[in-house]
Amino acid sequence: MNETVGKPVDRVDGKLKVTGGATYAAEFNLKNMVHAVAVTSNITKGRIKNINTSMAEKSPGVVGVMTYKNSMQLHSPQSSDPSGGKFAEKDLLPLQNDRVFYDGQIIALVMAETFEEAEYASTLLKVDYQAEEPIFDLEKNLAKAYKPEKASTGSETQVSRGNADHALQSAAVKMEETYTTPVYHHNAMEPHATVALWQGETVTIYDATQSVAGTKTLMASMLGVPKEKIRVIAYYIGGGFGSKGFSWPNTVLAAMAAKQVGRPVKLVLKRQQNFTTAGRRSQTIQKVSLGTDQAGKFSAIKHDSTVESSFVDEFVETAGVATPMIYSSPNVDVSHKLVRLNKVTPCPMRAPGEAPGTYALEVAMDELSYKLKMDPIQLRTVNYAEKDEDKKKDFSSKYLKECYQKGADLIGWSKRNPEPRSMKEGKYLVGYGMATATYPANRSASSAKAVLFADGHVEIMCATQDIGTGTYTIMTQTAADALSLPIEKVKVKLGDSEYPKGANSGGSQVTASVGPAIRAASLGLVSKLKKMAVADAKSPLHGQKEDDLVAENGHIVIRTKRETGDAYTDILSRQGLQDLRSQAATKVSTRQQTESNPATAGSSEAEIEEESKGNPFVQVDEKTDRKPFSFHSFGAQFVKVLVDPDLGMVHVDKAVAVMDVGTIMNEKTAKNQIMGGMIFGIGMALMEETNYDPNRGRPVTKDLANYLVPVHADMPEFQIEFINKPDMLISPIGARGIGEIGITGITAAVNNAIYHATGKRVRELPVTPDKLL
Ligand code: MOS
Repeated sequence: MNETVGKPVDRVDGKLKVTGGATYAAEFNLKNMVHAVAVTSNITKGRIKNINTSMAEKSPGVVGVMTYKNSMQLHSPQSSDPSGGKFAEKDLLPLQNDRVFYDGQIIALVMAETFEEAEYASTLLKVDYQAEEPIFDLEKNLAKAYKPEKASTGSETQVSRGNADHALQSAAVKMEETYTTPVYHHNAMEPHATVALWQGETVTIYDATQSVAGTKTLMASMLGVPKEKIRVIAYYIGGGFGSKGFSWPNTVLAAMAAKQVGRPVKLVLKRQQNFTTAGRRSQTIQKVSLGTDQAGKFSAIKHDSTVESSFVDEFVETAGVATPMIYSSPNVDVSHKLVRLNKVTPCPMRAPGEAPGTYALEVAMDELSYKLKMDPIQLRTVNYAEKDEDKKKDFSSKYLKECYQKGADLIGWSKRNPEPRSMKEGKYLVGYGMATATYPANRSASSAKAVLFADGHVEIMCATQDIGTGTYTIMTQTAADALSLPIEKVKVKLGDSEYPKGANSGGSQVTASVGPAIRAASLGLVSKLKKMAVADAKSPLHGQKEDDLVAENGHIVIRTKRETGDAYTDILSRQGLQDLRSQAATKVSTRQQTESNPATAGSSEAEIEEESKGNPFVQVDEKTDRKPFSFHSFGAQFVKVLVDPDLGMVHVDKAVAVMDVGTIMNEKTAKNQIMGGMIFGIGMALMEETNYDPNRGRPVTKDLANYLVPVHADMPEFQIEFINKPDMLISPIGARGIGEIGITGITAAVNNAIYHATGKRVRELPVTPDKLL
């Protein structure tokens, strides 16, 4: 059989998606369902003195109105589950009291027979507030900054080695600048949406979530219902980018409302509400100080970030997270400070930390290269980190030098005249820029089930989800290769918390976490088939040694005599079996956070763990010694920009990425992921930003007409290449995740190219035309 892993296989769910056959959370229409509309506060801080709901309640079609006065009491969320399931704002459980912490906070839910009736009735609520003085401007409240402990993502927030301040004083060449990034919103195409149904004490929740397994645990704890009674479904997700990693109020509110009215409830956040009640990326102010000798070798790197948090939880945009390991330097100092504001709590957004952090650091590197009169690639090569100097470990694998080299060739770096504002094409100023990309290679515990049916097809089940990245497709390929079946014979089922627990779609970890579990379950199935054939007197393989057998195109065959074989379907049918199943749990974790609690005796998880003890593929994987290694992906981003000198308009003309991310599972979906990240980065560099009303602290750019995201007309020519060298230390499939690394480095590369084109350095993102003229 030809292996399918690596091939540019079309998305297995592609046809369903383009024909409307893929059902997203908001598209489930249940019998007797009620539509809910969320009502939000229009003060920025204070208390609700009174909500008069009588007009709304009398409005046609209205089934109920839920406020803090009549809503069910929630239990405190359990958020220790490593597979996700953190409630985004621990001190603001929805509709539990009269407090208002930010403009746009949900204060009521109106339920009606139709969406239109709910929407109309929602305008009839009379709310009296007692407003208090809010604070919402980061720059005006820097005096209130404090140093947080660990970030909720597990990263350290204060890191130092050596003495950076001291080394900076005596450095031959110094560079110190401050860089800022605005608030960004994820703007996934699919809004946050939930449909909830109670049947007795059993709750089914269709949710737009990056973690069905985590949401299950979370909802059980908040609603006070046993875990076994909660089922969370997310078959298809229209993008998350981190916004659907934590759970926002819509999920639990839909369940609360469904309980209250005794009918299924659908709650879809409006686009505007996604801007106020479903996370965002924090604004950042980052001071970067670099010190080198005359040859450009670092003596010190300092990276101080001030970012936002809220009054109802703590989230740190860890802008300095990559700084301690990205280059070699004896002295490093990274710090983060937080200012609490009356705004929705920030949350992870695609490459949380690294996206704004590599922007600042990699622009600073470019500025330093001009000071040193040194090629920016050479500056990075001189300071190349052969080891992770922060963790004092070797990298599991690293081919970043190859990325620089190949990227430089592809963009035509050698033809660049380094002198700013020296290159032109027609009337346009031409600029080239580059930057380093990096993101951790995460892996966490996952399990999976493989079932062979009598007709010869196999179903794979895992409670992870495909947030639009191609997980269904690459997992089909992974299983097909392990089973030696064509991909048409393999059906991968994800997005249902009833399946064996899989990783959450966060931290770019699904491929490296779920892939090994699916592989082990599939190979376990093949082992069972071998054993059955060998033991069966009617099998042509009877009495053979298992080790001499291999799987080949739906048959078990003798390795050295491939014409002698037994079809999977024959092995099953001779035993009179309708199906044969294999389950595997892989508990490997490369993440800092603590792993899951041991499975309770007699549970399905315990059963999978037990079966895994006899699965050699799980055992070999789990026994690999990973402690001496640091797991990271790397890449090099290059762009060519054209700048209109009269209008200050920037067009990214060409964008090149060369990525070192381990084995490429599928060339097509992999390129999609990197390209998507780069588009995110181009938006971040040139147009995206959420503006707030300076008097009220409410977002004013809160739809896609005012919050600009890149469109097709903004697209460069992309050239995306992979080193494609397997990382066999992270897992037997050799792949590291690629969901987030594409957005790291790229923003700096665009900024650096703009400087090269124009001679003007803009350190405050986004680089809009007004800042260039
Ligand atoms: Mo990703 S921002 O860790 O979902």
